[in-house]
Amino acid sequence: MSRFFVKTTVFVVTSCLFMSMTPPPGREPLYARQGMVVSSSAIASTIGRDILRQGGNAIDAAVATAFAMSVTWPSAGNIGGGGFIVYVDKDGKATTIDFREKAPLAASETMFLDSEGKLIQNLNHRGMLSVGTPGTVAGLFLAHQRYGKLPWKRLVDPAVKLAAKGFDFTHALMDDSKRRKPTWTKIPSTARVMYRHDSVLIEPGQRWKQPDLAATLKRIRDHGRDGFYKGKTAKRLSDFMRANGGLINERDLAEYEAVERKPIEGSYRGHTLYSMGPPSSGGVALVEMLNVLENYDLQQLGYASADYIHLLNEVMRRAYADRAEYMGDPDFNPDLPVARLTSKEYASRMKQTIDMEKASPSDSSRFGQIYDGGNSTTHFSVVDGEGNAVSLTYTLENSYGSQIIADGLGFFLNDEMGDFNPVPGVTTNGGQIGTSPNLIKPGKRMLSSMTPTILVKDGKPLMVIGTPGGRTIINTVLQVILNVIDHKMNIAEAVEAPRFHHQWLPNVLYFESQTINKNTQEDLKQRGHKLMERPPTWYQGAAMGIYIDRPNGYLMGGVDSRSPDAGGAGY
Ligand code: DON
Repeated sequence: MSRFFVKTTVFVVTSCLFMSMTPPPGREPLYARQGMVVSSSAIASTIGRDILRQGGNAIDAAVATAFAMSVTWPSAGNIGGGGFIVYVDKDGKATTIDFREKAPLAASETMFLDSEGKLIQNLNHRGMLSVGTPGTVAGLFLAHQRYGKLPWKRLVDPAVKLAAKGFDFTHALMDDSKRRKPTWTKIPSTARVMYRHDSVLIEPGQRWKQPDLAATLKRIRDHGRDGFYKGKTAKRLSDFMRANGGLINERDLAEYEAVERKPIEGSYRGHTLYSMGPPSSGGVALVEMLNVLENYDLQQLGYASADYIHLLNEVMRRAYADRAEYMGDPDFNPDLPVARLTSKEYASRMKQTIDMEKASPSDSSRFGQIYDGGNSTTHFSVVDGEGNAVSLTYTLENSYGSQIIADGLGFFLNDEMGDFNPVPGVTTNGGQIGTSPNLIKPGKRMLSSMTPTILVKDGKPLMVIGTPGGRTIINTVLQVILNVIDHKMNIAEAVEAPRFHHQWLPNVLYFESQTINKNTQEDLKQRGHKLMERPPTWYQGAAMGIYIDRPNGYLMGGVDSRSPDAGGAGY
């Protein structure tokens, strides 16, 4: 009996390997007629959907969902971090809101270095100095002022109630609080919120109330932007920073501004694409890669073939090298070569450097850092009854950011300062980038990879997509788009399908567990690729997409099962 069992197991594993790079067949999207929200928090999606039902537009629903996620998905949903909105209205008019965090005014280029000029390990990712001036509240407020419809208070109020009345703790939250116990119990302000009696785990299904967060959200509800950047919240946060060696003060907060910027625009096989420009590198790199790939018949190459994986990796490696070399905050780098990198002509020159038989070297003394977190960023997509679309990605950087909850305010502070290039001039094969566009300067925004994107067809939004995943974000968004446009998957299959990643340096092709079969792996190795299989639960991102099927009059939602508390809601 046991022999048989072993044999059966071997058979199952083997057959899995041969089904490599195949999305779960026939995975069903979520369907709705009028409006939809898909996010990493089923509770927050429902709150956003209810706002749509009450006559709110996509921006209103996005604001409500974002505040709700700061309550239900604290690893990444936030008011202590930052992010980006890409908004395309029903007539195809596109814009973006940049609410990326900024370096505090007292920050400096060398703030994370020791007296010998070496990076002090973790200083840029842990503790008070890693915190950038938060942008989320300002960004949501600006988006609402310019494009919202329902009163602000109605959008923030559900989050206030959710924090005050509580909701059922999830297994994913318990898992995190268990794993992070050694760190969190050393930070009293965090321990007070995340455990009972500062150290006892909250179990799945137990009600979790966050009274401090409720009070903070109430001030935001009642006073808008000023409820966060001025008054009691600003004062408490500044005092907390001062008492614990942080840099953010009242002036940093009062002067923080979100900015409306022009989107990055590209085209791919008859679709127009809008994505986020600098200080995100996402839109530029995405358009750069699509421009090259448009020259190939990807469907014919086949979704799982060695040729396809090889080609994408070659394109990824080139776009990420450009990202590392050129990208940074546009307010501090007036000459970023955005137009050049996103031109078709640049792509056709890039194409000529690709050899289908052989991997290019990533040998440079330039760039690279494999970096991606778990649940540390989050993306959601919204479409309303009129066909307006919002693609929103926001983050605390690492999961739960700096791990520090602002004392008495109830929210996690980001560790986004870690996204700056930490050591001027030092770029290593193993990890760091040291190029100048993304060095720390007071008031500067750190470079991001977040890539909220909207595809437009015939002048109307067609698909809304984005994901977390650090630097893998751009490649995940790329692959979901190719899955829909070239490989004809529905949106649910497209977000679920296995993914891979290459980012120039380290020179490694990362792929999700058991998703590239042995023959294909061997073929890729022959061409010179260095492969690394991710451990089973170390997924690449958590994409949340909506596809607007106009001929049939449906919204179709793709909710990535890689995200444990995710869910969509439509009506
Ligand atoms: O802005 C960025 O690119 C990063 N701070 C995002 C971090 C992230 O996605 C981590 N992951 N899940």
